[in-house]
Amino acid sequence: MGFSTDAIHVGQEPDPSTGSIVAPIYQTSTYVQEELGKHKGYDYARTAHPNRRALERCVTKLEGGLTSYVFSAGMAAIDAVFRLLRPDDHVVVSQAVYGGVFRLTTQLLVQFGLQFDFVDTSCMENVRKAVKSNTKMIYVETPTNPTMIITDLAAAAKLAAERKLTLAVDNTFLSPYLQQPIALGAHIVVHSMTKYLNGHSDAVGGAVVLTRAEDAERIYFIQRSAGSGLAPMDCFLVARGIKTLAVRMERHNDNGMAIARFLESHAKVKRVLYPGLTSHPQHEVAKRQQRGFGAMISFDLGSLDAARRLLNNVHLCSLAESLGGVETLISHPALMTHASVPPDVRQKIGITDGLVRLSVGIEDVEDLIADLDHALAKV
Ligand SMILES: Cc1ncc(COP(=O)(O)O)c(C=O)c1O
Repeated sequence: MGFSTDAIHVGQEPDPSTGSIVAPIYQTSTYVQEELGKHKGYDYARTAHPNRRALERCVTKLEGGLTSYVFSAGMAAIDAVFRLLRPDDHVVVSQAVYGGVFRLTTQLLVQFGLQFDFVDTSCMENVRKAVKSNTKMIYVETPTNPTMIITDLAAAAKLAAERKLTLAVDNTFLSPYLQQPIALGAHIVVHSMTKYLNGHSDAVGGAVVLTRAEDAERIYFIQRSAGSGLAPMDCFLVARGIKTLAVRMERHNDNGMAIARFLESHAKVKRVLYPGLTSHPQHEVAKRQQRGFGAMISFDLGSLDAARRLLNNVHLCSLAESLGGVETLISHPALMTHASVPPDVRQKIGITDGLVRLSVGIEDVEDLIADLDHALAKV
């Protein structure tokens, strides 16, 4: 079946007991057993529940994996992936990852003996040089948040295969509609489902999509041991959001491109980072491995003062963390999403004080451009 058909139907079969077209929300913590050890597949909601299983089937199908597990947040999903490793194992990580991943790895997971090196994964030679005898995983975010750096996933998969490493990819910024890392050779895909998969800014969740049975078994063990699975109501909301993923992403693509072009032609904007523009250094790689360029755009206004003036003068774009919803959000990475990244590291990876990040929604693009134009006039 096609992508939209799968997004609408996989895991979403009508309820056989009532005929309800939408699967009910199983808001229960426990399940009655018919006799000792005999139940209908569910015994306790931390371990599994029908809404979680339904959503996992759908996410697995859309990413082309073997199986998936959905978590209470994107960070819980990413944490579970790193827990596949053992003390003294080493990971090569994309240099400009989401700030929360930087915090998780450098401030928490290092305490348990894991080692991380951060390199610019847009250049595979950097990754090759960073691989050590104890390296077990390459962890890539593409495009990166917020610097929009693209990693060539087929090249990363080739290197991972040569060195017998696991390739894990954060696919949050594009969603499976625009990029399918497993088809390009990744072993594991992670998502903050809080973003495009849900798409309506009303739930927090994460997903890990696996391709190998041994990883799947371990991830499920980690999830049920730690109790980090996603709750029924949130599974319901994300599953509902996924049904419109394809149409939303088409509109996000169109709006993203129109706004990137508008910003690039504006005199007050010093630089626009959007993989759909030919000025983007990895435009050709993005064109090859993505079905579209999405709606995440970062642009530099040259100073904190200029960024502040813009952020304080937009009306339709909302100043808020997060991304991937139907409404346009605008943020300041250095003081918001990436505040946990030390200033010298921020400088090194290009998160300047003048950098502004836009998550372009699916409103009428003329209204968004008018709002940005008005606010830029105040800069
Ligand atoms: C690329 C990326 N990965 C992971 C996360 C973490 O997801 P969550 O906020 O759902 O824990 C985020 C959050 O902004 C993100 O942007």
